[in-house]
Order: sequence, then C-alpha cells, then structure tokens
Amino acid sequence: MKEFKRYLITSALPYANGPVHIGHLAGVYVPADIYVRYLRLRGKDVVWVCGSDEHGVPITIKARNEGVSPQDIVDKYHNIIKESFAGLGISFDIYSRTTSPTHYKTASDFFRTLYEKGEFIEQTSQQYYDEEAKTFLADRYIMGTCPHCQNDRAYGDQCEKCGSTLSPTELLNPRSMISGSQPVMKETKHWYLPLDKHEPFLREWILENHKEWKQNVYGQCKSWLDSGLQPRAVSRDLSWGIPVPVEGAEGKVLYVWFDAPIGYISATKDLTPDWEKYWKDEETKMVHFIGKDNIVFHCIVFPAMLKAHGGYILPENVPANEFLNLENDKISTSQNWAVWLNEYLEEMPGKEDVLRYVLCANAPETKDNDFTWKDYQARNNNELVAVLGNFVNRALVLTNKYYEGVVPECGELTDFDKEILAELPALKKELENNIETYHFREALKDAMNIARLGNKYLADTEPWKVVKTDPERVKTIMNVALQITANVAIAIEPFMPFSAEKLLKMLDCGKLEWEKLGEQDIIKAGHKLGKAELLFEKIEDSVIEAQLKKLEDAKAAKLAAAAVVEPQKETVSFDDFQKMDIRVSTILAAEKVAKTKKLLKLTVDTGIDKREIVSGIAEHYSPEELVGKQVLVLVNLAPRELKGIESRGMILMAEDATGKLVLLSPADKVKSGSQVG
Ligand code: MF3
Ligand code: ZN
Repeated sequence: MKEFKRYLITSALPYANGPVHIGHLAGVYVPADIYVRYLRLRGKDVVWVCGSDEHGVPITIKARNEGVSPQDIVDKYHNIIKESFAGLGISFDIYSRTTSPTHYKTASDFFRTLYEKGEFIEQTSQQYYDEEAKTFLADRYIMGTCPHCQNDRAYGDQCEKCGSTLSPTELLNPRSMISGSQPVMKETKHWYLPLDKHEPFLREWILENHKEWKQNVYGQCKSWLDSGLQPRAVSRDLSWGIPVPVEGAEGKVLYVWFDAPIGYISATKDLTPDWEKYWKDEETKMVHFIGKDNIVFHCIVFPAMLKAHGGYILPENVPANEFLNLENDKISTSQNWAVWLNEYLEEMPGKEDVLRYVLCANAPETKDNDFTWKDYQARNNNELVAVLGNFVNRALVLTNKYYEGVVPECGELTDFDKEILAELPALKKELENNIETYHFREALKDAMNIARLGNKYLADTEPWKVVKTDPERVKTIMNVALQITANVAIAIEPFMPFSAEKLLKMLDCGKLEWEKLGEQDIIKAGHKLGKAELLFEKIEDSVIEAQLKKLEDAKAAKLAAAAVVEPQKETVSFDDFQKMDIRVSTILAAEKVAKTKKLLKLTVDTGIDKREIVSGIAEHYSPEELVGKQVLVLVNLAPRELKGIESRGMILMAEDATGKLVLLSPADKVKSGSQVG
C-alpha cells in the first residue's frame, strides 16, 4: 500500500434546513470521527473539514413556509448543527459554511476557470415560468396532479404518494407554489458539465484503479458508467445561491451540487493558509465520508469537476455507508421521524459515548440497518456496563482495596498470563487494519475484545479467592489487569473519547500514546491511581419508554398537522335534522366485548331508559374511566346486533385525521335525558 505524507478528510456538508439526526451520524460523522481520531493518535498530518450546505431549494421553501429569509433559516440551523456536533465530540478541524465569503469567491473562481477553459456547454431549453412572480420554477416549486395515481399534491420531481419520479412537464394541471398561477413554458439558458466527455477517464480511474472501493460504492459507480453519462446542468434559475459569475447570467445561480463540494476546498482555505498542500500534492490522501445518496456526486461529478479544472488531487477512497432506519421506519426530516442530535444531548446528558457506541456497533456499513431504542438499551446494559465498565471497575476497585490504589509489582508471569498478554499486540494489529480499511464495526469489536480479555483474565485467575492463600501471586494478577485496563483506555479513544478521558483520569497516568497499545508494562509499579468512578450506568426501561413515546407523539402531531379537513357534506333540511333524537346520557357501566380489540359494551342511562350500546372506543378509553361520564347519544338510531349484543343507539364522538377518537360531553352537568339540538 502506498504511504501518504498527509491526509485530507472530508465529510458531507449537511443541509442547514434541519438539525442533524442519528442517520447522518451513523452514516457519515461517527465513522469519520473514528478514522480521524485514530490518524491523529498515530501522529499523522491530517485535516478534517466540514461545514453547512446552505444553498438549495428545500432551504428556500422552508424559509417561505416560515415567512423568514433563507439566510435566517441557515443561520439558525448552522448554529444548532455546529454546536451539537461539538457536543458529541465530532472533532472537525473546521466547521465552515457555504454562505461564507471565502466560499463565494472559491466557487465563483472555480466556475469561471471551467468556463474560460471551455469545459462547459451552453444549452437552451424550455422550462416552466411563473408570469406573476416573474421567475423560472425549480421542480420543487411546481405542484400538480400525478399522472400515475391522481394525487393532486405531486411535486415537479416526485409524487410522494405513489413514489414515482416525475418531470415537471408530466404533471397534470401544474401550478406554481409561489403564486398559485398556472406556469407557462419559456426558454432559458444553462451551463452543462459534459460528463460524457470525462467518461473514459472515470471508467479507468474507478473501474480499473479503484477496485478496492467498497462494493456498494463501486457497484453504484459501475452502473452509472455503464448506463452512459449525460451532460449535467450546473446552473439554475433561482435567487438563492451563488450568482453565475459570467456575462448574461442574470437571475441564475450555481446549482447547489456544483457549489457544495467546492465547500471542502473553501473550508480548507479558511482553516489554513497552507491549504494547497492538502489539495494539490499527490502525496495527500483524500477520503470523502458520505451517505449512499451522495455517491454519484463524489465519485463522478466532483472528480470530473476537479479534473476539468486541473491541479487538484482526486479522492483515494469514498467509503460511503448505506442508510440507518429508526424503529423499522425510514428516517424522515419532514415526517419528524428521527432522533435529533441536539435533543438527544439535552435529554441524555453524559451519554454521548453510548450513542457513539451504538451507532458504530450498528453502522450501516454494508446494508441498511435499524436503530431501535431497545437495542440501544441492550447494548448499553449488556456491553458497555457489563463488559467494559465491569472490567475496568473490578481492576480499579480491587487495586484500591488491596493496595490503596498503588500499582503492585509484577512478579513472574504464568503461562496463562503470557498467553493473555500475547493477545494484546494481535488485537492492536487487527484493530488498526480494520480502521484503515473502514471496517469500523469490526474495529470497535476489537477494542471491546480487550475488555473481554480482561474479564476473562480476572474470571480465570480469581484474585479475590487467591488473595487469601497467595497474596504475592495476586500482585502479579492485578498488575496484569491494570496493564489490560491501560490498553483499553488507548483502544477506545477513537470510538468513545469521553470515556477514554475519564478512564485516563482514573488511571492518572497522563495521555497514553497509541504506540503503547499492545504493550504489557504501560503503567509502572508504584504508580498511584486516581479516583475510581463508574464508566457507564445502566439505562432503565422508563428512559427507553419515554423516548419511544416521544417518537410516537411527534409522528402523530405531524400527521394531524398535515391532515386535510374533510369538505362539508351536502345540505340537509331543518326537518331532516329534527328527526335525530340526541340525548345527554350517563354511562353506568362499561366492559370489554370478549374477543374484540375495539369494542366496549356500555350501559347508559338515557333519561328515557337504561340500555346497552356497543361502541368502538376500547382503544381510546378504559372501562374504568368511562363510568359516571356524561355523553351524547343518538337514541333513535335503528338498533343493530354486534357480537351477539343488541346495540340501541350511538355514542357521539369526534375523530381527527389520525384516527384519534374523543367523546363529546356537555360542558356542564345536566340531567340525563336532556335533548340536544
Ligand atoms: N448537503 C448534501 C446532503 O446532505 C451533501 C453535500 S456534500 C458536498 O446530501 F459534497 F456537496 F458538500
Ligand atoms: Zn403519484
């Protein structure tokens, strides 16, 4: 393998139109952070750049919906995102943004260079134009009826109801989301990057020279290349974005996917005046950490841009991950189905490493994966507490108990001791190899296996028993156990930096070099340890249940807010209405109808009589809470039989679009039998 002089690590710039969630973290930022922390521990020259992606149509739509400017939206989310990353220990060297002056200049210059080199083709086409708002309409700004499923709220690029990909011209009855008017076709000019021209180069560079790329990445590139590359427009008719920096481009901005990856260059410039060595020297290894939806842009479009520009290096690897789901459902910002990092940090203080651990252990490295709160709890309780925390705790507590916290001398090692210690360098090697090949889940297992080894060592040597018969031997056992503990402290640093720091404090031996990992005399005899604390705590069911409830509530609220109100029914005459006899009634008794989920049998006092009514509210009310309640009953509804019970009347209820049912009761107590009308 080629040795590189320095590393340039990039991670996808998150859109500043919402906070960061666990899907982003598991796919991109946690693995990148592990990789970078590891390189730093190895003393490598590495810079890691990231920042907010602040252009693009979704940001302008959000701004419009909230009645604020796009700049307000990106300012808000840039700060939330930046702070929450820091809170989780995501250790970028710089977190920049694409509305920065450096970026405007860098992206404009980049475009101009390609323009002057003749690397673009100019093409005119017909696009929808809003004559009232005097603007061309991006796909997302056009709504209409889906030609496949008749959904009348389909977008110009996609129908969210049936999932079809659409082009704006396929929509029936298109309307502008800006003015509501019917858009017209109008000619517009754009600049295109002729990807077809770069195809031979890309084929060779990826398909021949980078066969080592992850299978999902290589496969996606191959299928793009095999289906033939087309010129791609790199400008748009929009007002939010970086103006196209050439004559005759009024009202046009750079396409967000043209400017965003250039943001990596801008961020590096903002970080160091010495930025060029990271971008222009073949001895730099550039690695892009991204999610699978970004593969084509990082493996095909951006490299073609860099190549066309000239003078820049290309990525050495693009270890893209698949997607993380949440409780078996696709994570969705718009549906509010997510665990948001900023909220997690607030609600679970001190549990940063637990999230890092679970997201790495469960990372969607080769296929989509699922995050569940139950799994989160199980991994914390059964792995972090029971394996890692337990080992460290036993080693420290026993040393405190037997030697007042002073590391005992290591006497003669038994064969078993030697066998255990010999596993450390092997685990080190495996761990390094796994990190360097982007197998972070496996690497985390290697680190945890050091703690497992420690537990096995203590369980087999039983110092708590031997201390009664052979106290000299126990000194050696505890010395070995503490050396394993020091190994754990080093190995977990890239994955769980907060816990590594805590553990180093407990050992009180300063920073431990990565190179010491695998060694068996890291902490010297006679050294006094610091105070022992618990590394991890058990997470109770109630904590998990609260998180699950929060998710369900958020989803229901979203559904309710989005739900359309049913249109008014046909007019009825006063006489027709008068035919209905509605009475205030009091519920006297309630019980579940056997073998049904939804039905309750209610005995009510209608003022006229006492009667039984079967009602489908068992999922909304328990029998106990109903007894004594006053409700409204349509008493002259024709009786019908339900599950062998004659139901005489109907209890009136309101139902919202999510299916939630509520009973209607008089605002004040009145006599049963009072008429409603
Ligand atoms: N904002 C994009 C996304 O979230 C990623 C941009 S990555 C960059 O999918 F390369 F363009 F910066
Ligand atoms: Zn549809």
